[in-house]
Amino acid sequence: MIGHEDLAVRTLGPCRIDSPLAERLAARETTQHSVVEDDRILFDDTLSMAGVRGLPVDQLPSLEPGGPRKRIYFDPAKTRVGIVTCGGLCPGLNDVIRGLVLELCRHYGVRRIVGFRNGYRGFIPHYGEDVVDLSPEVVQHIDDEGGTILGTSRGMQDPEDIVDALERLAINILFVIGGDGTIRGAMEVVRVIGERGLKIAVVGVPKTIDNDIPYIDQSFGFQTAMSEATKSIHAASVEARSAPGGVGLVKLMGRHSGFIACYSTLAKDDADYVLIPEVPFALKGEHGFLEHLRRRVEDRGHAVVVVAEGAGQEHIEEHEPGRDASGNVRLGDIGRLLRRLVTEHLDDAKVENNVRYFDPSYAIRSVPANPYDSAYCLRLAHAAVHAAMAGRTEVIVARRRRRFVHIPMALAVSRRNHVDPLGDLWMSVLEATGQPVRFA
Ligand code: F6P
Repeated sequence: MIGHEDLAVRTLGPCRIDSPLAERLAARETTQHSVVEDDRILFDDTLSMAGVRGLPVDQLPSLEPGGPRKRIYFDPAKTRVGIVTCGGLCPGLNDVIRGLVLELCRHYGVRRIVGFRNGYRGFIPHYGEDVVDLSPEVVQHIDDEGGTILGTSRGMQDPEDIVDALERLAINILFVIGGDGTIRGAMEVVRVIGERGLKIAVVGVPKTIDNDIPYIDQSFGFQTAMSEATKSIHAASVEARSAPGGVGLVKLMGRHSGFIACYSTLAKDDADYVLIPEVPFALKGEHGFLEHLRRRVEDRGHAVVVVAEGAGQEHIEEHEPGRDASGNVRLGDIGRLLRRLVTEHLDDAKVENNVRYFDPSYAIRSVPANPYDSAYCLRLAHAAVHAAMAGRTEVIVARRRRRFVHIPMALAVSRRNHVDPLGDLWMSVLEATGQPVRFA
């Protein structure tokens, strides 16, 4: 069970400097009943969860709220900031970079901000990546484009070399924007910073279209990616309905978690089957997926199938396992396997069929953020700047139950967020598709 020690946030030292935002905060205090920085956020959100702890309310585990502080740790005039984006692309990366730069410059008066190029390798001299000076002018319209103006890469570099670079450039605050591998890397950087007795804050903004970071409502970019995915589901549905025995098969990203597959299916409400990594399925046999699909095609004349890339990996025989630079297991191609098996199964059963396969792949994550994600990214960037200027370190900023909070990095990488096969999201998917609870 998560306790106080899991939620404790590290700080570099006491906040002795008046924040440039203090006046605005003071004005807020007169109109609000509580001061943001003192009002901790309860970790548990149901009576039964809180009840089993048997503690008085003021001793229940709670998270530090995000937001501006009246007093800060770093003197803005002397503060140097670094920003790095790591891992796969995600809509909103440029929005976060822009939000960080504008908040630092315009509201805190920080003047020196650099971007490290191409992920963690941007810190390592032998890659020859020069840092990029970031100013409000440089970042002005970058949110109109997908991707990241800093570039990105997978994989960690030697944390000693990274901290050497931070020291060389006299960086006081490093913002890392990335997924769980990136956050683990950032924790290594924090360890070396500590060993060298340096006062450098490392604050993360968690990123993944897969939405698999735990303890947060949603990761930025997820909503945009799943919206893009609906286009392929719609196209698959049109194709399936327009041909005899039409089967539209869509493979979507989602390595360990089927959130994109589930939400995009619900958004279009056109799919008959959703297959996700969290819910194993049998392919063959009377109650297996293939037979069910055959009956569906015979009954209705068409079917739409959405499969998350990490689903049904146990069915893939010819596949060379291995890991990518982030340490992720390389997946077998479930989409192509299903395309072949579905066609063969319908052919064998003498059911006329036209199987159309869609793999939007990277197209769902290389687009600019939608307005919702853009707003979310900007608010995450603000929260990240407030946390760092107040000397918080080894934390990510995130929204949990609609509140911005500081979550220790160790907690953020302690597990993965999954679609709960007994939870309400999966129940909605079963309701929308009409597929059986289990293909056994
Ligand atoms: O983790 C995010 C993600 O988009 C996954 O959904 C996908 O499996 C993976 O990245 C692919 O990324 P790349 O091919 O860049 O390693």
